Amino acid sequence: MSPIPKAELHLHIEGSLEPDLAFALAERNGVVLPYASEDELRQAYHFDGLQDFLDLYYSLMAVLRTEDDFAELAHAYLARARRQGVRHAEIFFDPQAHTARGVAIGTVIGGLSRALDEAPAAYGITTRLIMCFLRDQSAESALETFEAARPHLDRIAAVGLDSAEAGNPPSKFREVYAQARAAGLKCVAHAGEEGPPAYITEALDVLKVDRVDHGVRCMEDEALVARLAAERMPLTVCPLSNIRLRVFDTLQDHPLRRMLDAGLLVTVNSDDPAYFGGYVHDNLTAVTEALGLDEETVRRLAGNSFTASFLEEEEKKAHLRAVEEYVFPGGV
Ligand code: HPA
Ligand code: ZN
Repeated sequence: MSPIPKAELHLHIEGSLEPDLAFALAERNGVVLPYASEDELRQAYHFDGLQDFLDLYYSLMAVLRTEDDFAELAHAYLARARRQGVRHAEIFFDPQAHTARGVAIGTVIGGLSRALDEAPAAYGITTRLIMCFLRDQSAESALETFEAARPHLDRIAAVGLDSAEAGNPPSKFREVYAQARAAGLKCVAHAGEEGPPAYITEALDVLKVDRVDHGVRCMEDEALVARLAAERMPLTVCPLSNIRLRVFDTLQDHPLRRMLDAGLLVTVNSDDPAYFGGYVHDNLTAVTEALGLDEETVRRLAGNSFTASFLEEEEKKAHLRAVEEYVFPGGV
Protein backbone atom coordinates (compact mmCIF):
# COMPACT_ATOMS: atom_id res chain seq x y z
CA MET A 1 0.00 0.00 0.00
CA SER A 2 1.45 3.29 -1.07
CA PRO A 3 1.59 6.10 1.50
CA ILE A 4 -0.73 9.08 1.01
CA PRO A 5 0.18 11.16 -2.10
CA LYS A 6 2.16 14.25 -1.24
CA ALA A 7 4.49 16.95 -2.51
CA GLU A 8 7.85 17.59 -0.93
CA LEU A 9 8.68 21.31 -0.88
CA HIS A 10 11.72 21.50 1.41
CA LEU A 11 14.47 19.09 0.42
CA HIS A 12 18.15 19.93 -0.01
CA ILE A 13 19.38 17.47 -2.62
CA GLU A 14 22.84 17.52 -1.04
CA GLY A 15 21.14 16.58 2.23
CA SER A 16 19.90 13.35 0.63
CA LEU A 17 23.49 12.09 0.23
CA GLU A 18 23.43 8.77 2.09
CA PRO A 19 26.66 7.32 3.53
CA ASP A 20 26.75 4.42 1.04
CA LEU A 21 26.61 6.78 -1.96
CA ALA A 22 29.10 9.16 -0.30
CA PHE A 23 31.64 6.33 0.02
CA ALA A 24 30.97 5.05 -3.52
CA LEU A 25 31.51 8.54 -5.00
CA ALA A 26 34.60 9.12 -2.81
CA GLU A 27 36.14 5.94 -4.19
CA ARG A 28 35.24 6.83 -7.79
CA ASN A 29 36.60 10.37 -7.49
CA GLY A 30 39.69 9.61 -5.42
CA VAL A 31 38.43 11.66 -2.48
CA VAL A 32 39.60 10.57 0.96
CA LEU A 33 36.88 10.94 3.60
CA PRO A 34 37.92 11.46 7.21
CA TYR A 35 35.82 8.42 8.25
CA ALA A 36 36.89 4.78 8.08
CA SER A 37 33.43 3.38 7.31
CA GLU A 38 29.78 4.20 6.73
CA ASP A 39 29.11 3.31 10.35
CA GLU A 40 31.78 5.65 11.59
CA LEU A 41 30.30 8.42 9.43
CA ARG A 42 26.83 7.77 10.86
CA GLN A 43 28.29 8.09 14.36
CA ALA A 44 29.03 11.73 13.48
CA TYR A 45 25.32 12.49 12.94
CA HIS A 46 24.76 14.09 16.33
CA PHE A 47 24.42 17.83 16.10
CA ASP A 48 24.29 20.54 18.73
CA GLY A 49 22.73 23.04 16.33
CA LEU A 50 22.49 24.22 12.71
CA GLN A 51 26.16 25.25 12.32
CA ASP A 52 27.42 21.92 13.66
CA PHE A 53 25.31 20.13 11.04
CA LEU A 54 26.33 22.51 8.24
CA ASP A 55 30.03 21.82 8.87
CA LEU A 56 29.54 18.11 8.14
CA TYR A 57 27.03 18.73 5.32
CA TYR A 58 29.48 20.96 3.41
CA SER A 59 32.49 18.72 4.05
CA LEU A 60 30.77 15.61 2.69
CA MET A 61 29.93 17.45 -0.56
CA ALA A 62 33.61 17.02 -1.53
CA VAL A 63 32.61 13.69 -3.12
CA LEU A 64 30.27 15.40 -5.66
CA ARG A 65 32.36 16.33 -8.70
CA THR A 66 30.86 15.34 -12.05
CA GLU A 67 27.51 15.58 -13.86
CA ASP A 68 27.11 11.85 -13.31
CA ASP A 69 27.56 12.32 -9.53
CA PHE A 70 24.75 14.88 -9.37
CA ALA A 71 22.50 12.75 -11.58
CA GLU A 72 23.10 9.71 -9.34
CA LEU A 73 22.40 11.74 -6.21
CA ALA A 74 19.06 12.89 -7.62
CA HIS A 75 18.13 9.39 -8.84
CA ALA A 76 18.79 7.99 -5.36
CA TYR A 77 16.53 10.63 -3.80
CA LEU A 78 13.74 10.12 -6.35
CA ALA A 79 13.73 6.35 -5.86
CA ARG A 80 13.28 6.82 -2.11
CA ALA A 81 10.77 9.64 -2.54
CA ARG A 82 8.56 7.44 -4.67
CA ARG A 83 8.34 4.88 -1.87
CA GLN A 84 7.31 7.72 0.46
CA GLY A 85 4.30 8.67 -1.70
CA VAL A 86 5.92 11.76 -3.25
CA ARG A 87 4.26 12.80 -6.54
CA HIS A 88 5.91 16.21 -6.86
CA ALA A 89 9.21 17.52 -5.43
CA GLU A 90 10.57 21.07 -5.35
CA ILE A 91 14.27 20.52 -4.80
CA PHE A 92 16.88 22.90 -3.34
CA PHE A 93 20.49 22.92 -4.39
CA ASP A 94 23.42 25.04 -3.16
CA PRO A 95 25.49 26.16 -6.19
CA GLN A 96 28.02 28.13 -4.13
CA ALA A 97 28.93 25.03 -2.13
CA HIS A 98 30.07 23.47 -5.41
CA THR A 99 31.52 26.40 -7.36
CA ALA A 100 33.72 27.15 -4.33
CA ARG A 101 35.28 23.71 -4.88
CA GLY A 102 35.85 24.29 -8.60
CA VAL A 103 32.71 22.49 -9.83
CA ALA A 104 30.98 24.58 -12.50
CA ILE A 105 27.34 25.58 -11.95
CA GLY A 106 26.53 24.04 -15.37
CA THR A 107 27.84 20.67 -14.12
CA VAL A 108 25.53 20.82 -11.09
CA ILE A 109 22.43 21.95 -12.98
CA GLY A 110 23.19 19.65 -15.93
CA GLY A 111 23.54 16.55 -13.75
CA LEU A 112 20.47 17.26 -11.62
CA SER A 113 18.39 18.12 -14.71
CA ARG A 114 19.29 14.85 -16.39
CA ALA A 115 17.77 12.89 -13.49
CA LEU A 116 14.80 15.24 -13.05
CA ASP A 117 13.92 15.02 -16.75
CA GLU A 118 13.54 11.25 -16.35
CA ALA A 119 11.59 11.49 -13.09
CA PRO A 120 7.99 11.59 -14.42
CA ALA A 121 8.44 8.40 -16.45
CA ALA A 122 10.84 6.60 -14.09
CA TYR A 123 9.27 7.47 -10.72
CA GLY A 124 5.92 9.16 -11.39
CA ILE A 125 7.31 12.37 -9.85
CA THR A 126 7.23 15.87 -11.34
CA THR A 127 9.85 18.32 -10.09
CA ARG A 128 11.04 21.91 -9.87
CA LEU A 129 14.54 23.15 -9.02
CA ILE A 130 15.14 25.89 -6.44
CA MET A 131 18.55 27.54 -6.44
CA CYS A 132 19.60 28.63 -2.94
CA PHE A 133 22.02 31.36 -1.96
CA LEU A 134 24.24 30.73 1.07
CA ARG A 135 23.29 33.52 3.49
CA ASP A 136 26.63 33.35 5.33
CA GLN A 137 28.33 34.36 2.06
CA SER A 138 28.24 37.95 0.83
CA ALA A 139 25.43 39.66 -1.09
CA GLU A 140 27.94 40.14 -3.94
CA SER A 141 28.60 36.39 -4.08
CA ALA A 142 24.84 35.78 -4.38
CA LEU A 143 24.65 38.31 -7.24
CA GLU A 144 27.60 36.65 -9.01
CA THR A 145 25.95 33.26 -8.58
CA PHE A 146 22.72 34.56 -10.08
CA GLU A 147 24.67 35.94 -13.08
CA ALA A 148 26.41 32.58 -13.54
CA ALA A 149 23.00 30.87 -13.46
CA ARG A 150 21.40 33.15 -16.08
CA PRO A 151 22.09 30.78 -19.03
CA HIS A 152 20.29 28.04 -17.06
CA LEU A 153 17.26 29.93 -15.77
CA ASP A 154 14.87 27.88 -17.93
CA ARG A 155 15.76 25.02 -15.53
CA ILE A 156 15.11 26.97 -12.34
CA ALA A 157 11.70 27.72 -10.85
CA ALA A 158 12.69 29.73 -7.79
CA VAL A 159 15.48 31.11 -5.67
CA GLY A 160 15.93 30.30 -1.98
CA LEU A 161 18.10 31.26 0.97
CA ASP A 162 19.76 28.79 3.34
CA SER A 163 22.80 28.07 5.55
CA ALA A 164 23.66 29.82 8.85
CA GLU A 165 20.64 32.00 9.69
CA ALA A 166 21.52 33.95 12.85
CA GLY A 167 23.24 37.22 11.97
CA ASN A 168 22.40 36.89 8.25
CA PRO A 169 19.00 38.55 7.85
CA PRO A 170 16.94 38.29 4.66
CA SER A 171 17.39 42.02 3.92
CA LYS A 172 21.05 41.33 3.07
CA PHE A 173 19.76 39.73 -0.16
CA ARG A 174 17.25 42.38 -1.25
CA GLU A 175 18.99 43.07 -4.58
CA VAL A 176 19.44 39.52 -5.82
CA TYR A 177 15.82 38.68 -4.95
CA ALA A 178 14.65 41.74 -6.89
CA GLN A 179 16.64 40.48 -9.89
CA ALA A 180 15.24 36.97 -9.52
CA ARG A 181 11.68 38.29 -9.39
CA ALA A 182 12.33 40.49 -12.44
CA ALA A 183 13.53 37.35 -14.26
CA GLY A 184 10.17 35.69 -13.51
CA LEU A 185 11.33 33.33 -10.75
CA LYS A 186 9.41 32.49 -7.59
CA CYS A 187 11.03 33.32 -4.27
CA VAL A 188 11.34 31.35 -1.03
CA ALA A 189 13.66 31.77 1.97
CA HIS A 190 14.57 29.90 5.14
CA ALA A 191 13.44 32.13 8.00
CA GLY A 192 12.52 31.59 11.63
CA GLU A 193 14.36 28.28 12.02
CA GLU A 194 17.14 29.46 14.33
CA GLY A 195 16.63 33.13 13.50
CA PRO A 196 14.02 35.37 15.17
CA PRO A 197 10.42 35.99 13.99
CA ALA A 198 11.57 39.39 12.65
CA TYR A 199 13.48 37.50 9.92
CA ILE A 200 10.17 36.01 8.74
CA THR A 201 8.67 39.50 8.50
CA GLU A 202 11.73 40.65 6.52
CA ALA A 203 11.45 37.68 4.16
CA LEU A 204 7.84 38.72 3.46
CA ASP A 205 8.35 42.48 3.21
CA VAL A 206 11.83 42.79 1.72
CA LEU A 207 12.30 39.58 -0.30
CA LYS A 208 8.57 39.27 -1.10
CA VAL A 209 8.70 35.50 -0.75
CA ASP A 210 5.98 33.17 -2.02
CA ARG A 211 6.75 30.65 0.76
CA VAL A 212 8.63 30.60 4.05
CA ASP A 213 10.93 27.65 4.75
CA HIS A 214 10.69 26.42 8.36
CA GLY A 215 9.07 29.54 9.86
CA VAL A 216 8.40 27.69 13.12
CA ARG A 217 9.55 30.58 15.30
CA CYS A 218 6.57 32.63 14.04
CA MET A 219 4.79 31.07 17.03
CA GLU A 220 6.65 33.55 19.27
CA ASP A 221 4.78 36.46 17.63
CA GLU A 222 0.96 36.38 17.70
CA ALA A 223 0.52 39.23 15.21
CA LEU A 224 2.85 37.53 12.76
CA VAL A 225 0.91 34.27 13.05
CA ALA A 226 -2.31 36.15 12.29
CA ARG A 227 -0.70 37.79 9.26
CA LEU A 228 0.72 34.50 7.89
CA ALA A 229 -2.69 32.86 8.31
CA ALA A 230 -4.54 35.77 6.67
CA GLU A 231 -2.13 35.78 3.72
CA ARG A 232 -2.32 31.98 3.39
CA MET A 233 1.49 32.03 3.37
CA PRO A 234 2.83 28.47 3.11
CA LEU A 235 5.35 27.31 5.72
CA THR A 236 7.52 24.29 4.89
CA VAL A 237 8.02 22.66 8.28
CA CYS A 238 10.62 19.91 8.83
CA PRO A 239 9.87 18.17 12.15
CA LEU A 240 12.73 15.63 12.37
CA SER A 241 15.21 18.32 11.30
CA ASN A 242 13.95 20.59 14.08
CA ILE A 243 14.61 17.91 16.68
CA ARG A 244 18.01 16.87 15.30
CA LEU A 245 19.14 20.53 15.14
CA ARG A 246 17.76 21.22 18.64
CA VAL A 247 15.19 23.82 17.63
CA PHE A 248 12.80 21.88 19.91
CA ASP A 249 13.71 19.26 22.50
CA THR A 250 11.32 16.51 21.44
CA LEU A 251 8.66 15.88 18.80
CA GLN A 252 6.04 16.12 21.56
CA ASP A 253 7.16 19.76 22.00
CA HIS A 254 6.90 20.52 18.28
CA PRO A 255 4.41 23.33 17.49
CA LEU A 256 3.04 21.70 14.29
CA ARG A 257 -0.40 21.02 15.76
CA ARG A 258 -0.63 24.50 17.27
CA MET A 259 0.38 25.94 13.89
CA LEU A 260 -2.45 24.04 12.19
CA ASP A 261 -4.90 25.13 14.89
CA ALA A 262 -3.84 28.75 14.26
CA GLY A 263 -4.95 28.37 10.63
CA LEU A 264 -1.46 28.36 9.11
CA LEU A 265 -0.84 26.72 5.73
CA VAL A 266 1.66 24.20 7.07
CA THR A 267 3.38 21.43 5.10
CA VAL A 268 5.59 18.59 6.36
CA ASN A 269 8.97 17.99 4.71
CA SER A 270 12.30 16.26 5.26
CA ASP A 271 15.00 19.00 4.84
CA ASP A 272 18.15 16.79 4.84
CA PRO A 273 16.78 13.26 5.14
CA ALA A 274 20.11 11.40 5.01
CA TYR A 275 21.22 13.29 8.13
CA PHE A 276 18.02 13.69 10.14
CA GLY A 277 16.71 10.14 10.32
CA GLY A 278 13.85 10.11 7.84
CA TYR A 279 12.33 10.99 4.48
CA VAL A 280 9.06 12.89 4.10
CA HIS A 281 6.59 10.14 4.95
CA ASP A 282 8.79 9.17 7.91
CA ASN A 283 8.40 12.77 9.09
CA LEU A 284 4.64 12.57 8.65
CA THR A 285 4.31 9.29 10.57
CA ALA A 286 6.63 10.55 13.33
CA VAL A 287 4.53 13.68 14.00
CA THR A 288 1.30 11.73 13.61
CA GLU A 289 2.40 9.46 16.43
CA ALA A 290 4.05 12.09 18.64
CA LEU A 291 1.20 14.62 18.38
CA GLY A 292 -1.67 12.16 17.99
CA LEU A 293 -2.84 13.55 14.64
CA ASP A 294 -5.99 11.99 13.17
CA GLU A 295 -6.46 10.87 9.56
CA GLU A 296 -8.22 14.07 8.51
CA THR A 297 -5.28 16.14 9.77
CA VAL A 298 -2.84 13.97 7.85
CA ARG A 299 -5.04 14.40 4.78
CA ARG A 300 -5.03 18.16 5.34
CA LEU A 301 -1.22 18.18 5.53
CA ALA A 302 -0.94 16.17 2.32
CA GLY A 303 -3.40 18.52 0.61
CA ASN A 304 -1.50 21.56 1.85
CA SER A 305 1.68 20.23 0.24
CA PHE A 306 0.08 20.45 -3.21
CA THR A 307 -1.75 23.72 -2.50
CA ALA A 308 1.58 25.31 -1.45
CA SER A 309 3.49 23.99 -4.48
CA PHE A 310 4.42 25.86 -7.65
CA LEU A 311 2.34 23.49 -9.80
CA GLU A 312 -0.29 24.86 -12.18
CA GLU A 313 -3.84 25.10 -10.78
CA GLU A 314 -5.12 22.19 -12.89
CA GLU A 315 -2.28 19.95 -11.70
CA LYS A 316 -2.97 20.93 -8.10
CA LYS A 317 -6.64 20.03 -8.50
CA ALA A 318 -5.80 16.55 -9.82
CA HIS A 319 -3.42 15.87 -6.92
CA LEU A 320 -5.91 17.23 -4.38
CA ARG A 321 -8.54 14.84 -5.74
CA ALA A 322 -6.11 11.93 -5.23
CA VAL A 323 -5.52 13.07 -1.64
CA GLU A 324 -9.29 13.26 -1.01
CA GLU A 325 -9.84 9.79 -2.49
CA TYR A 326 -6.94 8.17 -0.63
CA VAL A 327 -8.05 5.35 1.66
CA PHE A 328 -5.87 4.86 4.73
CA PRO A 329 -4.85 1.22 5.08
CA GLY A 330 -5.71 1.24 8.81
CA GLY A 331 -3.09 3.57 10.21
CA VAL A 332 -1.31 6.44 8.51
N1 HPA B 1 18.85 25.24 7.48
C1 HPA B 1 19.64 26.08 6.82
N2 HPA B 1 20.41 25.71 5.81
C2 HPA B 1 20.39 24.44 5.44
C3 HPA B 1 19.60 23.52 6.08
C4 HPA B 1 18.79 23.93 7.15
O1 HPA B 1 18.05 23.17 7.81
N3 HPA B 1 19.83 22.34 5.45
C5 HPA B 1 20.71 22.55 4.47
N4 HPA B 1 21.07 23.84 4.45
ZN1 ZN C 1 16.37 23.54 4.82
